[in-house]
Amino acid sequence: MAEISHSNVNNPAPDYTLVIFGASGDLTQRKLIPAVFSLFRQNLLPPGFRLIGYARSEMTDQQFRTRLTESLTEHCPDCSSENPAWKKFIDCISYCPGQYDSPDNFAQLAQRIHSSGSANVLFYLSTPPSVFVPIIQGLADSGLSKPPQNGFARIIIEKPFGRDLASAQELNQHIRRAFREEQIFRIDHYLGKETVQNLLVFRFANSIFEPIWNNKYIDHVQITVAETVDVAGRGSYYDQSGALRDMLQNHMMHLLCLVAMEPPHSLKADAIRDEKVQVLRSLQPLTPESVDSSLIRAQYSAGKVKGHHVPGYLELEDVPNDSKTETFAAIKMFIDNWRWSEVPFYLRTGKTLPARVTEIGIHFKSVPHVLFNLPDAPASPLPPNVLTLRIQPNEGMSLRFQVKVPGAADDIQPLTMNFGYADAFGDKPPEAYERLILEAAEGDATLFTRSDEVETAWEFFAPVLQCCNQNNSKPLPSYPAGSWGPAAGDELIERDGREWYLTRRPVSPKAVESL
Ligand code: BG6
Repeated sequence: MAEISHSNVNNPAPDYTLVIFGASGDLTQRKLIPAVFSLFRQNLLPPGFRLIGYARSEMTDQQFRTRLTESLTEHCPDCSSENPAWKKFIDCISYCPGQYDSPDNFAQLAQRIHSSGSANVLFYLSTPPSVFVPIIQGLADSGLSKPPQNGFARIIIEKPFGRDLASAQELNQHIRRAFREEQIFRIDHYLGKETVQNLLVFRFANSIFEPIWNNKYIDHVQITVAETVDVAGRGSYYDQSGALRDMLQNHMMHLLCLVAMEPPHSLKADAIRDEKVQVLRSLQPLTPESVDSSLIRAQYSAGKVKGHHVPGYLELEDVPNDSKTETFAAIKMFIDNWRWSEVPFYLRTGKTLPARVTEIGIHFKSVPHVLFNLPDAPASPLPPNVLTLRIQPNEGMSLRFQVKVPGAADDIQPLTMNFGYADAFGDKPPEAYERLILEAAEGDATLFTRSDEVETAWEFFAPVLQCCNQNNSKPLPSYPAGSWGPAAGDELIERDGREWYLTRRPVSPKAVESL
């Protein structure tokens, strides 16, 4: 990883061309172009930077630029297409229409790249996974996957990376026939989030947490990724994926690894990724029997989210009306190593939940002997300390602890100490894609997933996926949109005498807009 405290301004990548496959798609307009434009505005692109969009739709350079200009303000609220910077930026963008399996079209692309001035190239596969293999093949056959002398040819691959262990292994084999591992950047945009990167800083740039970061002091860990959005408009993709493949196997496993990993010996990509893989290898394997008691899946039915009616998942046009795809998943996992033995990790994620919130809760053990009681619950144990890492929104951290209420009585009360990024640093954190594109252009793979990481995560989920397939004849529990998921999702943790916990945090005015 480029050193966290350093700005890349002083160390820009050499001139290169970014080629986006799937350039007419939603991700390009919604995330990639605003991210690259933002890099341009911060002077983080080299002077000879060029962007070529590649997709099947027939369009001229000018039509492509007009399309991007029209969508800019919608996806980048603080951008204006009237901005002189945009007018300058758009000049470096061109478009190359082509099929994903046509040698002629790849030859045309090669010509475009060569005439763009720089031989360095960063390919971005932002297409449906069904065309990953033909594109990779096309790049290999046209010679584009081969780095030029003293230069680079790198490839960023969007998720989903496979849909199970076998397909991920197959995809890895295909890519490795064309690219060496150091040329490959499997993207997971969660790793580009500031708060996710801060997990490493929090854990390894402070000395006070490490001594208590283990099963002696930690009772359990909760990771919640709740979304208010439904899957309208993405049903055909989502129905093949579901919460397990869309969120749990990738984004949430990265969060878990960063919380649970051992200190790496350096910030080098492989040092960090080695430690993450160790966590995945230490996950207690699930068996068909344990899946039943450790995993809850459910699907949303019609309801209201933030006052708006949301049709049920099965009512969506592009979803089969007998679909058994889960839109909510909760799982209990263990990590079998000295640090985490016997500490349950509870993970849950869902669509159409009442709030958009991603939090990691580190729940410490209760005090061993109670000297004080809460005035309104004299016989209860004291609420334990909870350290919450707020990934989004209202990015920050809080720590719940007990304080004495001023006065003659020995009354105590749990309070929360709060740190908010917006209060400390002002601006909203940069978009994950900005950092990731920059890191790939610099050849730093720390924030990308290595092949063994992706395969080990799939390996863990293999029995889970197998059980889901076998149980496909059984009805899937449902939960109304706007609720916190099915009752079984709460029971998963409550039967262990615990409960889901999200911080009731003071929201700073600067953070409100991102809620
Ligand atoms: C994507 C998933 O990878 O992440 C989406 O495909 C999900 O279904 C999204 O909504 C969540 O990302 P974020 O950054 O909004 O938490």
